[in-house]
Amino acid sequence: MAQRETWTSRIGFIFAAVGSAVGLGNIWSFPFQTAANGGAAFLVVYLLAVFLIGFPTMMIEFVIGRRGEQNPVAAFEKIGYGNWSFTGGLGVFSSLVTLSFYSVVGGWVLSYIVGSATGAYFGDPGTYFGSVASGPTAIAAHAVFMAITIGIVASGVTDGIERATKVMIPAILVLLVGMAAWATTLSGASAGYEYYLSPDFGVIADNFASIVPPAMGQAFFTLSLGFSVMIAYSSYLGRDDSLPADGGAIVVVNTLVALLAGFVIFPIFFATGGAEGAGSGGAGTAFVALAGAFGSLPAGQIIGFVFFAVLLFAALSSSISLLEVPVSYVTESYGYSRGTTAVVMGLAIALLGVPATFGTSWLGFYNDLVFNIFLPIAVLLFAVFAGWVANREAVDELGRGSSVGESFTTAWLWWIRIVVPIAVIVTLYLGVESLYTGLTSGAYF
Ligand code: TRP
Repeated sequence: MAQRETWTSRIGFIFAAVGSAVGLGNIWSFPFQTAANGGAAFLVVYLLAVFLIGFPTMMIEFVIGRRGEQNPVAAFEKIGYGNWSFTGGLGVFSSLVTLSFYSVVGGWVLSYIVGSATGAYFGDPGTYFGSVASGPTAIAAHAVFMAITIGIVASGVTDGIERATKVMIPAILVLLVGMAAWATTLSGASAGYEYYLSPDFGVIADNFASIVPPAMGQAFFTLSLGFSVMIAYSSYLGRDDSLPADGGAIVVVNTLVALLAGFVIFPIFFATGGAEGAGSGGAGTAFVALAGAFGSLPAGQIIGFVFFAVLLFAALSSSISLLEVPVSYVTESYGYSRGTTAVVMGLAIALLGVPATFGTSWLGFYNDLVFNIFLPIAVLLFAVFAGWVANREAVDELGRGSSVGESFTTAWLWWIRIVVPIAVIVTLYLGVESLYTGLTSGAYF
């Protein structure tokens, strides 16, 4: 087998992993989920989910990845549990399905960059959304977004992914900080911060069952967990890198980007009419609400352009990792060339995504299928594997190359044995229930 291409440095790995994590989830879904679920109340639950459940789960994928030193399917064999390979495969499969609709939304973002430049959505944001979110425009934009993704992945780990994310991540951070600073000058800024940052614990208590599943789903999705991506990426890590330190850095930067997006969006909403309605009603409302807000701001055209450019960078830095995982699996297992594999798989994924260009209900169905079912199941399987099946020697991978002691590993082990599975099972139960209700009530089709 050919020598595996690898990160040129530990920083290269961190950039790529942050690139995977920072995506539409941070800048598009996070603020809108927050708006839809009570503002600061959701924020609190989300942050708890990220640090208490998401971070330990990321450590599971890192342990499997670095211990396995292989693609996510072969990794389980290498650790000595070949009959668990299917869990890695489930993650790879989820990546395919997710990319198919993620790219459709990426296409919308492209259309909104064009729309900001020409001012096309300023007059009637609702109609503009309708015209770009389904039909021929949506298909064309989806195709362009996939083509860019394929191009970067075909160029390889170092020349493609590492180079692209090293430019995009700093650009995202700088532009978001700039926009957040500008947003402080808006007249609605303080009301926006109030809604975003002052939690009403009564709201949390009253809406616990409806806040927890989206907060947990969002925590997994935003950290790219359950997709075997972190297994694949950490398989390239050196023995002397600290998994908890690298994972901590990734989680913190990813959270920072989401929080910054909130600092941009909430002042804008409150300056232009409030957050009510912005979060409800699914995928499209976010675009319509934002475009409407940009349309009524003095410098809206420029702000809109920059905002959607940031969103595009974030989407691309994630879509390349969604394609990289299946591509590296196929190239390593079957020996096809990277270029051909990227093109063939990219085309297949693009086709799978076509129904999501018919209308937002299909897109919502794909999204909920991944969010509510695939993702929690994969995370649960990873936790059961690492917590109850793998031997202690494999699990001790967590502390290798790091200064954390044996007791840290033991504490983590019990946490992923008990707490993580309970949290995921509750989320899965509520998620299946809501998908079932959606299907039987005709909410999707
Ligand atoms: N984390 C990405 C976001 O927030 C989306 C995502 C989920 C992802 N799983 C992934 C990206 C796997 C790459 C790989 O938008």
